Amino acid sequence: MNKKLLKKIKTSFIEKFNTNPLMIFSPGRVNLIGEHTDYNDEFVFPAAVDMGIILAIQKSNANISTAYAIDKDEEHIISTANLKPLKKGSWANYIIGVVAEIQNYGKTVKNFDLVFGGDIPGGAGMSSSAALENSVVFGLNVLFDLGLSKKEMILISQKAEHNFVGVKCGIMDQYASMFGIENNALLLDCRTIKSKAYKIDFQDYQLVLINSNVKHSLTDSAYNDRRSVCETISKKLKVKALRDVTKNDLKKIQERVTPENYQKALYIIEENERVLRAAKAVAERDLKLLGKLLFQSHNGLQNQYKVSCDEIDFLVSKARANEHVLGARMMGGGFGGCTINLILTKHTKSFTTEVSKCYKEKFNIDCTVHAIRLSDGTKIME
Ligand code: GLA
Repeated sequence: MNKKLLKKIKTSFIEKFNTNPLMIFSPGRVNLIGEHTDYNDEFVFPAAVDMGIILAIQKSNANISTAYAIDKDEEHIISTANLKPLKKGSWANYIIGVVAEIQNYGKTVKNFDLVFGGDIPGGAGMSSSAALENSVVFGLNVLFDLGLSKKEMILISQKAEHNFVGVKCGIMDQYASMFGIENNALLLDCRTIKSKAYKIDFQDYQLVLINSNVKHSLTDSAYNDRRSVCETISKKLKVKALRDVTKNDLKKIQERVTPENYQKALYIIEENERVLRAAKAVAERDLKLLGKLLFQSHNGLQNQYKVSCDEIDFLVSKARANEHVLGARMMGGGFGGCTINLILTKHTKSFTTEVSKCYKEKFNIDCTVHAIRLSDGTKIME
């Protein structure tokens, strides 16, 4: 938790609005394994991290609400009576979306003021958007006594993302950010929205993110595209989601789908198997197997589901070639962002230094390295 940032945001709120705010921290997330499986009602294995969004929020007596994004130094006035999405890409959509979806849920939100900022690099695939949505719904729930459960809150955050941001995301990011538990990853069943916590002992290893610092522009459209491929194939198979089929079921309709789309559906089924094996590996303290599954996952994301990119593939290939890295893969929606790496702690520095140098030589971009701690979910800061 970033104490300096907390202080900066609280001070800014008091200067602007002359009253003491409620302070909330909502974390970003990593995902050990289970990419793009969430919207197929399958399993994922994410965890909250100790970076995220800090929100200062309080009720307002004015007849408008004000939101201030400290990192961008931008203010947005919100009239809670008439909420529509703003132009694509505006940060205010996350906030407006949450307020609108709370209203659609039949609850009343009165006027409020808020200031927020964060320490998750944007576009890193660490779910700064889910963290922001969760912080807002969590804060409004407390201030206006809305009586929402954590599960209701994450469903509201997800709807905000669908209807105001335009990404038909699954539930993983919002869930991990809200329900995270320190030192644990959550094996989440995305159909029942229930999880089992797995305490992870990383032994002599550590989880490290390497941010490619690229985000290719097709991210959102390709994401919705992949989702629709999965839905079309589920329809052909006459099931609700790919969760409901086996590889054999899929084989039966092979003639009726393109080879590319067949591979995409196959990837989902195989990735789900990997998630379950990964959870078992963690329970059995078998980090070698966990690492192997990460590499396999990347292989599927790169060649079957086709959501990786050259920069990320390069980072993973460097990890593959290093004997001290047990596993690595792209993380999140794809087309940029971070790789997640399981590295022998005492060799982390030498590996990341070497990779950073090669990456710079090849792409003329600096990558950034973050060692990760698994942390608690959204909470009030004292
Ligand atoms: C994004 C979405 C999640 C999930 C991942 C891919 O982060 O928000 O719901 O689908 O991509 O696993």
